[in-house]
Amino acid sequence: MSRSIYLALDFPNWERADQFIKTNRLHGVPVKVGMELFYREGPRVIEQLKENNHPIFLDLKLHDIPTTVMRAMKNIAQLGVDYVNVHAFGGGEMIQRAKEGLVSASNQPPNLLAVTMLTSLDQEAMNQELLLQGSVEDNVLHFAQLAKNNGADGVVCSVHEAKQIKKLCGPSFQTVTPGIRLENSTKDDQKRIATPAFARENGADILVIGRSITRAIDPYEAYMQAIKEWENGNES
Ligand code: C5P
Repeated sequence: MSRSIYLALDFPNWERADQFIKTNRLHGVPVKVGMELFYREGPRVIEQLKENNHPIFLDLKLHDIPTTVMRAMKNIAQLGVDYVNVHAFGGGEMIQRAKEGLVSASNQPPNLLAVTMLTSLDQEAMNQELLLQGSVEDNVLHFAQLAKNNGADGVVCSVHEAKQIKKLCGPSFQTVTPGIRLENSTKDDQKRIATPAFARENGADILVIGRSITRAIDPYEAYMQAIKEWENGNES
């Protein structure tokens, strides 16, 4: 089992998620729990997954006033997950207080990640709707630096930005990358996709993979292929 590939458990409830894991012999693999599953099941889903020894990335993308985020993170820290996240757009003070909440509530606090820019926003939406100047890459790098300066352990970003972020923020600043597709799978609705081998070459530390595995004909085989592509590069 690779600790670097988090399977996105994008299911409507625990029953479906648990059934998927069991049917496909994915016991104990690292998993990402997002809003859909967490808002249905609450902390119980995290307890279940921990009992079954899954490393967990709890992807709730917090974004509120700093005190509220700090207090929420105090509660989240007690769930004992490995990664949590906020939107970098909440600002430096919010990121700092998020970290403060995590550290104050746990001896082994989760890693704090910041979402730089949602990949659903293109340059036009960013410039015209959010009134942010410059290219997507300029803004992503700016938010990565802001996150780093305020105590985040890494960012969620596109594979295409990981190398530049590493250069700017240093090798220990973690890059967690969704938008991954296996060599032979479809693109679905993701525009800027990359294979695990490409991600590896471009400085990604951790991959988040959902539909390439959950919608594969044989999800176990797809998971194994992802590990192989990630570990061996293109010669696999
Ligand atoms: O199915 P797919 O592999 O495209 O989904 C990956 C997961 O990554 C989904 O749970 C999605 O919500 C998440 N994601 C994210 N940040 C992005 C893009 C996708 O957290 N910028």
